[in-house]
Amino acid sequence: MRILRTVTTLWMLGAVAAVSIWPIPESVEEGDGVVWMQRDVILELNLPKNSGSNEPDYVNPSVSGSKIEAAWKRNKVFLFKQNIVPWKFHPKGTDFEPKFSPSGAIKKVVVTQRKTDRSRVPVEELNEEYTLSMPDASGKFFDSNDNKQEPGTIYIDAETSNGALHGLTTLSQLFYRAEKPEAFENIYSPSTPVLIKDKPKFKHRGLNLDVARQWYPLKDIKRLIDTLSWNKFNRLHFHATDSQSWPLEIPSLPDLANKGKYGPHMSYTPEDLQNLLTYASKRGIEIIVEIDMPGHTASIADAYPDLITGRNMQPDWDTYAAQPPSGSLKLNNPSVETFVTQLFSDLLPRLHHHSRYFHHGGDEVNRNVYLLDPGVNSNSTDTIRPHLQRFMTHLQSQLTTHSAIPITWEEILLDWNLTLARNTIIQTWQSDSAVSAATSKGHRVIAGNYNYWYLDCGHGQWLDFRPGESYDKYYPFADYCSPRKSWKLMYAYDPLQGLETEEQKRLVLGGEAHVWSEQIDGASLDAVVWPRAGAAGEVLWSGRKDAEGRNRTLEAASERLGVWRERLLERGVGAAPVMQLWCYMNKGGCQL
Ligand SMILES: *[C@@H]1O[C@H](CO)[C@@H](O)[C@H](O)[C@H]1NC(C)=O
Ligand SMILES: *[C@@H]1O[C@H](CO)[C@@H](O)[C@H](O)[C@H]1NC(C)=O
Ligand SMILES: *[C@@H]1O[C@H](CO)[C@@H](O)[C@H](O)[C@H]1NC(C)=O
Repeated sequence: MRILRTVTTLWMLGAVAAVSIWPIPESVEEGDGVVWMQRDVILELNLPKNSGSNEPDYVNPSVSGSKIEAAWKRNKVFLFKQNIVPWKFHPKGTDFEPKFSPSGAIKKVVVTQRKTDRSRVPVEELNEEYTLSMPDASGKFFDSNDNKQEPGTIYIDAETSNGALHGLTTLSQLFYRAEKPEAFENIYSPSTPVLIKDKPKFKHRGLNLDVARQWYPLKDIKRLIDTLSWNKFNRLHFHATDSQSWPLEIPSLPDLANKGKYGPHMSYTPEDLQNLLTYASKRGIEIIVEIDMPGHTASIADAYPDLITGRNMQPDWDTYAAQPPSGSLKLNNPSVETFVTQLFSDLLPRLHHHSRYFHHGGDEVNRNVYLLDPGVNSNSTDTIRPHLQRFMTHLQSQLTTHSAIPITWEEILLDWNLTLARNTIIQTWQSDSAVSAATSKGHRVIAGNYNYWYLDCGHGQWLDFRPGESYDKYYPFADYCSPRKSWKLMYAYDPLQGLETEEQKRLVLGGEAHVWSEQIDGASLDAVVWPRAGAAGEVLWSGRKDAEGRNRTLEAASERLGVWRERLLERGVGAAPVMQLWCYMNKGGCQL
């Protein structure tokens, strides 16, 4: 009789499962039989009948069909060309490769999408679940249903095309490349049959990319989108503008980017933006654009100096902003409101078909900068607040006009106590108590505590020092959020930690890891983000706790993350090593 193992049991014993999937699925049953896959394996696609709904073209079944077909083509490359020979995970000189045998080989993958995709799905209603069933070489499945399954066939079932894509992503991790001459260019799975039932713990699984402090070419953003999708993220938060530069072209306000971008070609045209939105959505990722306001806006002054107060106050910029250059949108100022109206009328209709969400920023609003604003003339919270409230009410009313659901940083709700639209989603970053406070006010939350999920921390102080005593004062030059957040620390974070009621937990939609770009750009992106963001990805997809309610352990994750990193390298992502190679070759030999 075949030995049936479940991954959870193996982990408890400290052994390493043959199935090595990142992020770990909700449930895995695996046998110990080897099955090979034929190079001429084909895809068979079952799509839902067109429901005849009024959904636009880009979600109809022929489109979701071509989306799944394209994903299959990409995954075939990962399976047959960019796959790993797992020699790094066996002791030196071991002969670990199974004997090649074509009998019972996989020759077909059947993907079934059960329902027609919908556009602009509210985050709560996303369905990304899938099941994957693969037989062993004798044609035995774990979920035999009246012999309707054919031997040599893998079945992936999902309700949506995004669920089907997740199934294919998992499939690409079930096989290894062979090295022996007789099996060369063939791939095998060592633990069949396999039955995987999987769905995400959190609906909003994102990464925030700051493309304003440094410029990112499209190719780097696309590689990030690819890698996010393989880690089963579903959101790219595009922090599109900041005080340092305004790279987002707004055709009706052309000077914003013309004067606000860093240099020629360092902006995103409307076509670039559409290109990214489409590229991402074909990979199951929704891009949510942020225009950070009213702080973090000094770059607007490059085009419209009259809209900004406290522009680049030197040398004491730090009185007026968290970072140079200082500068905030004026309050109590009709021209600023007109600007916001025009900006949104241009941008939001272009985002509309892709996402119902829009992020309007709101972090780190400096009080002193309003001493310089003729409409405010004060740094007192009580004086500023009604003006900020008026600005925010106008801004959110414009979002309503464009049917966009607002996302804003925690300070607007928790520091300024502003009244916000009920459906406003609060993005927290400073503490777990912020998650607790925002949910207890009834708001939905995207978590991502900077003590765990800021990928930019620990690179050291990037600001230069004023001559004189500063050297000693700042030695040894740590940055504000040192140390670096290791994958282990990222893995130890639970977006739900510290929450008391079930209602509060229900309001946490998920979380985001963050890439603030003071010291990161396209050249260093891969090694900074990967595989660490994968740790956040697994918390978001699989949950911090396992099915029995226990914390997932670092020991169980360590080798799987190491295998995953090797796969990312094969796929052209310059992910950093997880640990020294000897430790993977000698399991259990590197424990502290
Ligand atoms: C507010 O402004 C005054 C100067 O008008 C300054 O002395 C005070 O330190 C400022 N308050 C804060 C909290 O920065
Ligand atoms: C906002 O409200 C909280 C409690 O509701 C209070 O502790 C805090 O001081 C208020 N903040 C301001 C700026 O008024
Ligand atoms: C589980 O992890 C959380 C953090 O996510 C931590 O606070 C808690 O102490 C851990 N529980 C156990 C039993 O290790």
